[in-house]
Amino acid sequence: MERPTWAPGEVDLERPSAARVYDYYLGGYHNLAVDREFAEQAMLAMPELPLIMRTNRAFLRRSVRHLVAQGVRQFLDLGSGIPTVGNVHEIAQGAAPESRVVYVDKDPVAVAHSQVMLEGNAGAAVLLADMRDVQSVLADEAVARLIDPAEPVGVLMFAVLHFVDTDKLARDTVRGYMAAVPSGSYLVVSHGTHEVVGERGKQVERLYTRTDNPFYPRNQAQVSALADGLELIEPGVVYLPSWRPDSPEEVEDHPEKSSTYAMVARKP
Ligand SMILES: C[S@@+](CC[C@H](N)C(=O)[O-])C[C@H]1O[C@@H](n2cnc3c(N)ncnc32)[C@H](O)[C@@H]1O
Repeated sequence: MERPTWAPGEVDLERPSAARVYDYYLGGYHNLAVDREFAEQAMLAMPELPLIMRTNRAFLRRSVRHLVAQGVRQFLDLGSGIPTVGNVHEIAQGAAPESRVVYVDKDPVAVAHSQVMLEGNAGAAVLLADMRDVQSVLADEAVARLIDPAEPVGVLMFAVLHFVDTDKLARDTVRGYMAAVPSGSYLVVSHGTHEVVGERGKQVERLYTRTDNPFYPRNQAQVSALADGLELIEPGVVYLPSWRPDSPEEVEDHPEKSSTYAMVARKP
């Protein structure tokens, strides 16, 4: 298969990537045949997957706007993905132009596209890194340049912790970042669950073992435990559409169809 100009040399063209599959669900163009075939196969089990991804992006918008309204002006977006409509710096800088954002992803396509998007934006940067390696992310030059350790930080983990295989590693990763930021900082998480979809979700989970990012859904108690030691903001750990919807219509009849928990917590 011919390598597209946007796919750096280290990209394996034969293996689906979670970042590019997500891009396909969202209607983007930075995906390969192998990703599209994978996504279509997963949609046989869960046709609602593209809707879930859009619902996740809507939560991203609402929660980032909420943090800006609370006075947060610096953000660490971990597992930020391939840029799409309504990225964190657009939302934050749109509401407060002085906002700074550091994006982190381990997918070379996501990072290459973020670099292009951020050219000329002095308030934002992207690094190619594994977010589980907390100390090397925090020690990066871009973090030192854009994140003031004395000011509150929005630590954003949208749809990424369910790619971390054990509860302990997921918790330690969250704790590593939250220990490094001051009181008044926030943790924002969205996290897949199979509590409602059951066997259909298990089929998708089995498929994801073929990608570069196997999927580890968690239940509500496991997701809540990620925020231990922090203050959960109302309405707590809820399905995506139920987290402070802009309008009652946004919640729809069955928020559990999103199969994804959302939470925002504040460091006391
Ligand atoms: C489903 S996408 C979510 C993108 C974005 N956060 C959103 O919610 O719209 C998950 C992203 O997390 C990235 N990712 C997964 N594990 C990671 C890790 N350990 N370190 C950094 N990025 C990771 C993947 O490459 C992918 O781009």
